[in-house]
Parts: sequence; C-alpha cells; structure tokens
Amino acid sequence: MDDLRDKYISAISSASDEAVLEDLRVQAVGKKGEVSLKMRELGKMTPEERQVAGPALNALKDEINSALAAKKVALADAALNERLKTEWLDVSLPARERRVGTIHPVSQVSEEVTAIFADMGFAVAEGPQIESDWYNFDALNIPGHHPARAEMDTFYTHRKDGDNRPPHVLRTHTSPVQIRSMEAQGAPIRVICPGRVYRADYDQTHTPMFHQVEGLAIDTDISMANLKWVLEEFCRAFFEVDGVELRFRASHFPFTEPSAEVDIRCSWEGGTLKLGEGDDWLEILGSGMVHPKVLEAGGIDPAKYQGFAFGMGIDRIAMLKYGIPDLRAFFDSDLRWLRHYGFPALDQPSLQGGLSR
Ligand code: PHE
Repeated sequence: MDDLRDKYISAISSASDEAVLEDLRVQAVGKKGEVSLKMRELGKMTPEERQVAGPALNALKDEINSALAAKKVALADAALNERLKTEWLDVSLPARERRVGTIHPVSQVSEEVTAIFADMGFAVAEGPQIESDWYNFDALNIPGHHPARAEMDTFYTHRKDGDNRPPHVLRTHTSPVQIRSMEAQGAPIRVICPGRVYRADYDQTHTPMFHQVEGLAIDTDISMANLKWVLEEFCRAFFEVDGVELRFRASHFPFTEPSAEVDIRCSWEGGTLKLGEGDDWLEILGSGMVHPKVLEAGGIDPAKYQGFAFGMGIDRIAMLKYGIPDLRAFFDSDLRWLRHYGFPALDQPSLQGGLSR
C-alpha cells in the first residue's frame, strides 16, 4: 500500500496537464484501477485482516482523490496565469488622441448647448430628418401657397408616378420637432431639439446641410421676458464672455407672434471677431411667442397655454465662438482642419468642468 501511495502521489504531483492526470486517476481509482482491484481483494480476507486493510485502503483512495483534485486546481491556476501573462492591457496608459480622432466642432458645440440648456431644465427631443410637409410647413402655420416655402430652398423627395400625395421634404429647420414634441408630451413642456437641417444654398456661410437647435418652452405663464432671460443666460454661458450684449429686433416668422431676431454685439477690429464690444451686430437666432395655430396643431389649447420658441444655427455659433471663417470647411472632412479645430476626444464639455477648455 505504501508503494502504491508513493507511486501515485509523486506521479500526480509531477503531472504536466489534465490528460495525464486523468490517466493517473483511471490507473489508480478507476473501475479497474490498482487501488480498486486491491479493494476487491478485501472479500477474500479474514475479518481481522479486513479490519486493518479496509480503512487503510479507503484512506489511500481518499488521499489519491484529493491529491488529484488539488492538482487539477493547481493546473488550472497555472494555465490562467500563463494566459494572463500574455493578455494584459495597461489601462493607465494615456489615450492616444491622434488615433482616437478629435471631436468635430459641431458635436462639441451641440454638447455645450445641451449642457447649458439642461442646466436650465430643458430636455432633449429629436425628430426625423426626412419630414412630411405637414410637420415642416402646414403645422407651423406655413400653408401651401406661403412664400416661406420657396424662400427656404427646400429639397423635395420624389413620389412614385401617379402618387399625388405631397412629397416629403428634407426638413428645412428643426421647428417641426416643436410639433412632434407637443404631440408626444403635451403641456407644460421645455425641450431643445438639436439636429441636421437642409436647404439648397452654398457659400461661405451656407451649406446645403447644416445644424440648428430649436428651443420650446410652454406653460400657463410664459412671456417674452422669459425668452429674453433664457437667451441672455445662454449666450453668457456659451460665449464665456462677460458683458455679452444682445439686441432683440422685431421680425416675422409664420409660426411665432410676435417674432424677434436676436443679434449679438461684436467688433471686427483688425479682422478678428470680438464679442461683447464694438458697434457691429451679428444675427444668431430667430425667436418669438409660439403662434396659437401652432399650439393647436400640436394639440395644445392656446386659451390655456402659451410659450416661446427659438431656432439657432449651431454651425453659426461654432464659427463665432471658435473663430472659424468658412462654414464649407466644416463638412470637407479635411484631416488637417479637423485636427486644428477639433477637440480632445475624451474631454466632454460640462458646466462644472468648463465648457470649452
Ligand atoms: N425655424 C426658424 C428658421 O429656421 C427659426 C425660428 C425657430 C424662429 C423658432 C422662431 C421660432 O429660420
């Protein structure tokens, strides 16, 4: 029995893998293993012999089984350690900014705008870029014959021959999301809607695709004064310039009454644009009190509720804030431009951490 113990315990401890271990198990304690065969001999022994040999054989079997189990665990641990040695990753290494790429100024500014309005209690809403003409025009108090349809240089989609329904459009502004948000949420409501919009136009400050952010606040006691405060707060936070000055200029939009366009005071001295000083004014957004017909189209009772809305060009305010002279370059995908005007990929703007750093 001692020979058996020595033989198997040392073989188990030097086994190189699980297959060898399994062979040893079969040889020792398998059905026809050496220890099992010895146990069968117990029947031929005298009771006295059996009293000694029985417990000893059982103890040997237990000993071999636990040696097998322990070795199995040890082999698995060793295999895992081998793997860990090859499959490691140093998560403390600094990110390689070049390889990750940079955040596009439009994305950066969208995040900044969202952070500022979120802080004022506005949620983010979205709508489709291919829009029905009802949402893009009619619901916004722009009926079929209205000149605003032509002024907007709309892109229309094609209908199949014989389909006389009005064609869908690439949305010309984010204002249709006003209607969709009113339908989805009812009043009171406070949302901003950032997104892509499309108009057939192309020069230094116009591209056929650009970005707007719509704002909408509706409640029982909202006035033009709230609109003015919100926009002033926004501009102060966004442009990070003390003494930003805004000018509200009477204007006209079919979907707001009264309407105002907002200009920001600036100077162009020496060819560089400075905000908050000088004698020039730069238009940055359209706004006004939501027209009762628009509230109705969104399913909200204009006798009970009123609100303000505004629409701002995201690319425009990005150009202003970061001194980017040509809008067309935004969408050229020129890596040199992206590296120059882009933002570190892992730096998310927040009011706490500093918006633009
Ligand atoms: N939709 C208008 C535009 O694209 C902007 C606007 C939005 C004006 C909301 C007033 C209210 O020019």
